[in-house]
Formats: sequence, C-alpha cells, structure tokens
Amino acid sequence: MLETEVKEKLLAAAVEAAQHSHCPYSHFRVGAALLTNSGKIFSGTNIENVSYGGTVCAERVAVWKAVSEGEKEFLAMAVAAPGEGESYPCALCRQVMLEFGLDWLVISGDAHGRYLGERSLHELVPFPFTPQALLGDQT
Ligand code: THU
Repeated sequence: MLETEVKEKLLAAAVEAAQHSHCPYSHFRVGAALLTNSGKIFSGTNIENVSYGGTVCAERVAVWKAVSEGEKEFLAMAVAAPGEGESYPCALCRQVMLEFGLDWLVISGDAHGRYLGERSLHELVPFPFTPQALLGDQT
C-alpha cells in the first residue's frame, strides 16, 4: 500500500514533467512519474516527432530513464493527462511496463495532479505476454 502523501508527490512530479511536453501536433500534454523500489522518482513527458512514428509517450520516457540509470524494480507510476476522466497508459506503454513486473500500481491524475483513480498493471493487462513466455522461470 502506498501512502496518499507518496501518491500526491508522484502526481506532482508528473505534472511538473508535463510542462516539458513536446507536443506541437496533438497539444496533448502528458506527464509521468515512476517510483522505484529504492525510493527514486524518474519522470517523463511525451516527445512528439514530425514523423509521427518517432513519437514517444511520457510513460515510456520515464521507464527508459529509470532503466538506463540501473533501476528495474518499480512500485508505482503516476500519469497526469488532460481531460475529465481517468486516463491510463496506452497498450504499447503497458507492454513496456510489464516487462518489469505486473504487480505494481498505475495512478491516474488530471492535468493539475488531482488524483482520479488507480489500477494495478495486472488489472490493466489481464492476459499479458510476459518475459516468462521466452525465459520460463529464469527471470
Ligand atoms: N500519450 C502519452 O504520452 N501517454 C499516454 O498514456 C497516451 C498518449 C501521448 C502520445 C502523443 O504525444 C499524445 O499523447 C497524443 O496521443
């Protein structure tokens, strides 16, 4: 169980990251903040590209920043996105996230960092294609 205070801190980090969003095409500003088991926070924002295909979501930026700094064990990811209702990572980001386990939390917030809801990654991907499919139990 994550304390409310920690969730709020993560949402605030996601909102801050969204300020750096490079989204000239969609104008859809997203921020993400990933909490590692070791207590570090890695944030990310969406970075669009004129090719469109080169665009990357906020969530994957946060994962790649963490992994490239040697962190692969995660407790939670907060996502701050525009719009009214809860918003969770796209399917491609979910797949990238579950590479590092299914038993962690995704927290949804609005553009101001207000808490909207939460789901485990397992809930978001009920029938996952996991590393175990290729590696068996040697992960
Ligand atoms: N986007 C994210 O960064 N995260 C999501 O969860 C959904 C979509 C970005 C990708 C693109 O830059 C813009 O939002 C519109 O899809």
